[in-house]
Amino acid sequence: MSRFDRQDELNHPRNEVPEFTQMVEKSLSRRRFLGGAAALGAAAFFATTPLSRAVAAATSSPLLGFKPVATSTDDAFIVPEGYKAERLVSWGDVLFDAVPEFKDSGNTADAQAGQFGDNNDGMSFFAIDDNNAILAVNNEYCNYELMFAHQGDNMSAQDVKYAQAAHGVSVLTLKKQNGRWQLVKDGKYNRRIHANTPMAISGPAKGHELLKTAADPKGERALGTFNNCANGMTPWGTYLTCEENFNGYFGSPGNADITPAMARYGIGHEGAGWKWHQHDTRFDLAENPNEPNRFGWVVEIDPKDPDSVPVKRTALGRFKHENAELVIADNGHVVVYLGDDERGEHLYRFVSKGKYNPDNMAANRELLEEGTLYVARFHADKDGELKGKGEWLELTHGKNGLTAENGFASQADILIHARMAATQVGATTMDRPEWVAAHPSEPVVFCTLTNNKNRGVKDNQPVDGPNPRAENHYGQILRWKPAGGQHTTNEFDWDLFVLAGNPTVHPGTLYAGSANITADNMFNSPDGIGFDKAGRLWIQTDGNYSNEGNFAGQGNNQMLCADPHTGEIKRFLTGPVACEITGLTFTPDQRTMFVGVQHPGEEMAGSHFPFGGNRTPRSSVMIITREDGGMIGA
Ligand code: FEO
Ligand code: CA
Ligand code: CA
Ligand code: CA
Repeated sequence: MSRFDRQDELNHPRNEVPEFTQMVEKSLSRRRFLGGAAALGAAAFFATTPLSRAVAAATSSPLLGFKPVATSTDDAFIVPEGYKAERLVSWGDVLFDAVPEFKDSGNTADAQAGQFGDNNDGMSFFAIDDNNAILAVNNEYCNYELMFAHQGDNMSAQDVKYAQAAHGVSVLTLKKQNGRWQLVKDGKYNRRIHANTPMAISGPAKGHELLKTAADPKGERALGTFNNCANGMTPWGTYLTCEENFNGYFGSPGNADITPAMARYGIGHEGAGWKWHQHDTRFDLAENPNEPNRFGWVVEIDPKDPDSVPVKRTALGRFKHENAELVIADNGHVVVYLGDDERGEHLYRFVSKGKYNPDNMAANRELLEEGTLYVARFHADKDGELKGKGEWLELTHGKNGLTAENGFASQADILIHARMAATQVGATTMDRPEWVAAHPSEPVVFCTLTNNKNRGVKDNQPVDGPNPRAENHYGQILRWKPAGGQHTTNEFDWDLFVLAGNPTVHPGTLYAGSANITADNMFNSPDGIGFDKAGRLWIQTDGNYSNEGNFAGQGNNQMLCADPHTGEIKRFLTGPVACEITGLTFTPDQRTMFVGVQHPGEEMAGSHFPFGGNRTPRSSVMIITREDGGMIGA
């Protein structure tokens, strides 16, 4: 969540349960709620594990071997007893010998282009051998209030260049020395990709009229990537970085035409406060109305080749991408699950045309070039039930009403305006789909729906199905099982794995959360999720850290760990003041976990993480190990 997003939150009272909400609480009985899927009827999905209400309250999962940590409001990164957390890299750390060191104020754009970017988010670990690796890390955005003495109020062209250089992706060479992973300065894979790095536009939308600009009349070569939220990793060794809130970087002095399509993507005259359009005409909608169409994509990067050109894969659709969870289906097709993180937007699936070849990695390199995009529609078994069936609706030109009469002249049109195509086919509006994570060995997929204050308030966002609470402050985790256990089938069963909530503040209502939420493990706004090899589900939060009102007792943002079979959830770590915990990846032996601390001290909240004293707070990647060298979580 950026401060601009948060401003939107501040305009809306968060700490009250409005009258409408209370009505809904009464209308959905707690009994039915607990008797439904969220009572952890996981048995339907994991047939070998019988479940009951008692299991949810138990603390016996063999997967969760650590002692849970309490909530915290300290300016600290707190891990369980027997675990160790060390800093790997922070915003501004130097990647190349010739680059000046980061200063707490007065940095330059040139220096930043050779330093670790800001607001690290999704990341992936690429092992080379036991002691050498690459870590590719997204740098989502920056905090002007921490970056500039003027806090963003008086942006210059140089300031915009600095901010642009702080965005994008950092590729880091890592070496294990003296038993711990370290960043190698001037390492051979080190690379900064930022908002001005040349990249290719590829796939069905390449060369489309809407992608052409004066600087790129062919519509096939873009500059840069920004607001890189979460990520994905392919089995052929590439990194996927996902462009999320790209809209806010564009604006105009007021004379640009804002089309309905631009409005659907949140593009307007004002922008979100980044002010790039005031100093860089590329972001001025009056000068370059097509430039925003070149963002909102998934970008594929070869981390092993620092000279490679990143590729925007338009077959995966254009929206506010969260992550890209890739699985190889049993029939060899590559399936990528994709969330569009905005209130009332949708959940997508891509299925490649070609098949994965485990014996020829080079042959896999273009698998994301061509395929079929789908969007999800959910049905509840009965009104108010928290489980049901669903289907993937194909977003292919000529099908499901995606025709010229309805405004879609080609497949490229559908991909560039995927949100509008999703509406045309009748997709379900969701409570902000964030990360998707597929279980490593079973055909079950999880997605965080982080929160949605508009649920039950806006006409197109009814309280229904997997989005069962009006003015949803807390979020939920949805899961589905594809029919026949095959990721390429178009039907699935779904239920809710957990409804986050606050059983202390809202006992006996849907806002208390599901049966697996207690006063000891409660949290709000699940966002980053990922499985480890053993099948533990790691859950990171990007929520309200006020510790008051609806959020009383929930403390700072945190990471939890769940047993997907029993539903048990334990808190694994807590982050420093005003941070979000986001980004997770493991070494192949599962004995080191990397976790991101994003925007500690945003909005001048008073953090000095990670250096303490009076230092500027800096987003950082942390390394977590066990003192006894064991597997993380076990
Ligand atoms: Fe960048 Fe939806 O979080
Ligand atoms: Ca974030
Ligand atoms: Ca996120
Ligand atoms: Ca979020």
